[in-house]
Amino acid sequence: MRAGESGRLVQSHGRTVERRGPAGRLALPAMLVAAAVLAVGSVATAQSTGQSTGQSAGGALAVLLGGEGTSTRTPDHNAFSHPMSNLTFADRASFNIGNAVFRRAWVVAPSSTASADGLGPLYNARACQHCHLKDGRGHPPEANFPEDTLLSMLVRLSVPGETAGDPPRPEPVYGGQLQDLAAPGLVPEGHLRTDWTEIPVDLSGGETASLRRPGYSIVDLGYGPISPDVMLSVRVAPPMIGLGLLEAVPEDAILANADPDDADGDGLSGRPNWVESPSLGAVALGRFGWKANVATLVDQNSGAFNGDIGMSTALVPASFGDCTEAQATCRSAPHGALDGEVEVDTQLTTFLLFYTRTLAVPARRDADDPQVVRGAEVFADLGCSGCHNPTFRTAADAPMPALADQEIWPYTDLLLHDMGEGLADHRPDGEASGSEWRTAPLWGIGLTEVVSGHTYFLHDGRARNLTEAVLWHGGEAQAARDGFAALAPDDRAAILRFLESL
Ligand code: HEC
Ligand code: HEC
Repeated sequence: MRAGESGRLVQSHGRTVERRGPAGRLALPAMLVAAAVLAVGSVATAQSTGQSTGQSAGGALAVLLGGEGTSTRTPDHNAFSHPMSNLTFADRASFNIGNAVFRRAWVVAPSSTASADGLGPLYNARACQHCHLKDGRGHPPEANFPEDTLLSMLVRLSVPGETAGDPPRPEPVYGGQLQDLAAPGLVPEGHLRTDWTEIPVDLSGGETASLRRPGYSIVDLGYGPISPDVMLSVRVAPPMIGLGLLEAVPEDAILANADPDDADGDGLSGRPNWVESPSLGAVALGRFGWKANVATLVDQNSGAFNGDIGMSTALVPASFGDCTEAQATCRSAPHGALDGEVEVDTQLTTFLLFYTRTLAVPARRDADDPQVVRGAEVFADLGCSGCHNPTFRTAADAPMPALADQEIWPYTDLLLHDMGEGLADHRPDGEASGSEWRTAPLWGIGLTEVVSGHTYFLHDGRARNLTEAVLWHGGEAQAARDGFAALAPDDRAAILRFLESL
């Protein structure tokens, strides 16, 4: 899924596979397209909910976490799936088509539904939605291998550069990502095995917790030995809300919080991840992914099509997905592209981009509950907000009016922080080291259970609840973590209530 790894740099291999006539590529329900085109011509105005988004003089907390487009609908299991409320009528039509692309289950080529084929040959899931379940987060295997394997998560792979100082490379045989599914006639690459170890933790006031430490290995290898130097990074699918707003935060505003050498001596040294952006054709500020390893949403979406589903797009045109040269049967398997074309055309990726930009952030609940307000104070006092930066204003020249000039409350600085040995995956990613992670946005986190039916947090879903998520913090966040563990139990409950209000 990550742009910048093997797939992105591989040019279309130019192999032609004889299959169908050009009529095969009618890709969209024609009525929906017609509706969208008609609506573009109509005069539609963005409406704002009119509510204040700031903190009032009385200290009430912001409710409209995602600016004027915040969803104020009753939060139920669809809470992450609503369009921003300030979209025009035309925009809503585009959102609906994009949603259909996000949910579409692709099939292996050749097939009778030519517009939906090209899956694989190696892949992790048939649809975006299969990992980003209900537009929410994925989860780790619920049970230990072999009862359960990869589902809504993936494993990135790399090996060290050829000489010291060179950037890591994709694993020579298995590529940049482990695909645990394959088209008929091909074998999957393997499965992730997780072995959990419980670590008891004492908290103040006689409370206790237990952290489960994962041990990862890859089993059932389908293409021979994997490099003994392979580095693994196990990541669950993050929630899809508010991403267009994060993309619209001005770069200057993000860099203003960077303090790589901790010049202000607060123990926090957030730094940007500079990554190659295929869409911009340049090195750019990374914002997406657990290590801020991708700069733009279109890069992320195309990388996902390539690495996760094995589909080609204009930006990542390799129709064989993440198959390496060493996987010859995979490279020569049938694919879904006509000669000179890609499997997912630009019309579809444009609607998909629209969708990934405009999923609404739900409104905060219980903003005036005294325990929530107290929790917000404790959150600031402990230094959580030093990384989980509460608020930004999006750029006035954002790509669409609904995203522009919005006061948003994502609780992230979008920067990398060293989170210590406990969370380290020891796999560098762009400029991010093996122990650095992007501060996770916290908006919507209190609705995880409602939307996703679980409360697994952090990059690999190892934390089983919010308390465990905080207790895993180390490195730059060690002082905040220790402060949390030492809080009077009432204040610890308050901070959790504050998180649940988001
Ligand atoms: C196999 C599971 C899986 C599938 C399928 C999948 N994703 Fe993801 N997605 C992930 C994971 C894991 C990440 C985090 C990646 C990282 O940290 O490098 C992610 C990250 C993202 C992000 C960035 C979110 C953020 O907060 O930074 C976007 C956008 C995204 N995916 C879109 C898509 C789209 C569009 C599709 C379909 C074309 C898709 N994904 C398919 C697992 C998946
Ligand atoms: C040094 C920066 C830093 C500080 C300080 C910090 N965090 Fe975090 N936080 C992060 C990063 C980075 C992650 C993602 C880590 C990962 O996934 O491995 C994260 C993740 C989280 C998550 C899980 C989010 C998710 O989507 O899974 C929660 C909850 C959280 N932090 C709460 C807090 C609280 C509460 C405090 C204060 C006690 C705090 N954090 C202090 C950087 C920080």
